[in-house]
Amino acid sequence: MTAIVRPLADLRGRIRAWKAAGESIGIVPTMGALHDGHLSLVRAAKAGCDRVIVTLFVNPRQFNNAEDFAKYPRTEHADAALLAPLGVDALFVPEGAEVYPPDHATVISVSGVTAPLEGTHRPGHFDGVATVVAILLNMTQADRAYFGEKDWQQLQLVRRLVADLKLPAEIVPCPCVRAEDGLALSSRNQRLAPDARARAAALPQALFAAAGRIEAGETPGAVLEAARAGLEAKGIGPVEYLELRDGETLGPAQRGRPARLLVAAWLDGVRLIDNVAVALP
Ligand code: PAF
Repeated sequence: MTAIVRPLADLRGRIRAWKAAGESIGIVPTMGALHDGHLSLVRAAKAGCDRVIVTLFVNPRQFNNAEDFAKYPRTEHADAALLAPLGVDALFVPEGAEVYPPDHATVISVSGVTAPLEGTHRPGHFDGVATVVAILLNMTQADRAYFGEKDWQQLQLVRRLVADLKLPAEIVPCPCVRAEDGLALSSRNQRLAPDARARAAALPQALFAAAGRIEAGETPGAVLEAARAGLEAKGIGPVEYLELRDGETLGPAQRGRPARLLVAAWLDGVRLIDNVAVALP
């Protein structure tokens, strides 16, 4: 079983010993309810670092409503058991009051990359993410931190945060892991009823089909309008956004630069997000 570590003083003792031995530290920040997507991040961290810490903290500041926060799955012991065969050195599970003591007063806000898409639909979400990621990087003194490309906009935010604050951690992006039918793995998928789960594959199918048509030279506006209508006709909706963006700045997509097609849509009361690379012709 992977050691469940708290409080911070305990983790810091271990980190001191590892650093004194010249060992590098990788972290995989998570909110728990681990699935194969998280495990792929852990495997990448194990391959790149001497010591691996998985952090588990369901961050209240990045939820837009109290009900979503309350419903978020909490499976600490199952998570520790899943990590055991992977040789993780610590599952760090800080208490809420240790991350945000009552006198906590610092909020980190990254502008630009956070403005559109999730930023528009989930006000305050990215301030919560930026603040907790900075706290977790400092708590763990990580040399490398592993983030999934499934949360593409979050990944760009973390890159910006680390560059702007000159944080010493290297951010390592890892490919999105998909179920056999193409649905991007997410802890929230557990909340889909079986019939909704069966229909959910239409989302990545629409995304990949739209990306293919844009790459083949069709007009993005028309392709995306048709894709959106197709999804809503299949009961996937509302579609909050389905947009072609610059892959790095999340501004308007431009020829000659990497582009990304990103989507957020509701199914069965669950908000699904996904994205795919697009090579503009
Ligand atoms: O991607 C997540 O699970 C969370 O946003 C993160 C990075 C662990 C911050 O709470």
